Amino acid sequence: MKAKAILQSGKLFAALGAASATTAHADDKQAPPREFAAKVHYCTTCHGVSGQGFRGFYPIPRLAGQQPDYMKNQLLAFTQKRRTNTIMFSVAHVLSPEMLSALSSHFNKLDPKPLGGGPARLASEGKTIFTQGVSATNVPACATCHGDTAAGNGEIPRLAGQLSDYVVAKLANWDKERGQIASQPDASALMEPIAHGLTPDQIKAVAAYVSTLE
Ligand code: HEC
Ligand code: HEC
Repeated sequence: MKAKAILQSGKLFAALGAASATTAHADDKQAPPREFAAKVHYCTTCHGVSGQGFRGFYPIPRLAGQQPDYMKNQLLAFTQKRRTNTIMFSVAHVLSPEMLSALSSHFNKLDPKPLGGGPARLASEGKTIFTQGVSATNVPACATCHGDTAAGNGEIPRLAGQLSDYVVAKLANWDKERGQIASQPDASALMEPIAHGLTPDQIKAVAAYVSTLE
């Protein structure tokens, strides 16, 4: 399958895979990197005390329960400018590899209630899109990659409990923010045709649905 091929053949995947294979067990036992607690505190000033996300001037995404490999890859993507965001570039480019792993593992273990936020009346249409896709426009079911419970897997993110307005903004701006270095294709390429294939109303519906999942 194309999805698997991109994820498994990418150099980045290989590098991350190798790194997590050797550190996966070490993460829990090793002493946290210096300044770890202060760094977590810093992240939570924007992402919420339990990593539940924050709805302010613009939506700040939930990190709680996020897949560690996805999170590490996004932090590297901000640093390398494969993914554009000026705030997160400043935050991420100073983080050491040990800190990236420790932070990703820390937020993965948190499980606060979702903030939700999408209109409840859209959730059932959103569920249909999530579980069945949109056959008229060849959009595959989100569940095939993100999982039946939207928990994600590896470099595929958890969507469960993600802020609906954040999801809407990411899907609407996919091309302008992700995969910005043509010579360094990454997992964002898998989502590009999917984000494109959804109408604004379908995006709102699927975002409302995933925002309620625990
Ligand atoms: C000043 C506010 C601020 C701080 C501090 C901050 N972030 Fe962020 N973060 C954001 C915003 C805003 C976004 C959304 C970027 C976008 O829309 O693409 C974001 C996005 C992210 C994402 C991408 C999430 C996803 O679902 O793709 C990760 C991962 C992340 N931040 C991790 C961290 C970590 C780890 C720290 C602490 C070291 C941190 N952030 C500190 C504001 C902040
Ligand atoms: C072929 C596999 C695949 C399918 C099907 C798929 N996704 Fe994704 N999705 C991914 C991957 C891989 C990423 C991570 C992209 C990256 O690294 O930038 C992602 C990322 C996302 C993000 C960004 C999350 C964040 O925290 O920033 C959203 C939102 C999303 N997908 C929504 C959907 C929706 C809605 C559907 C169904 C209509 C869907 N996806 C179907 C593979 C898939």
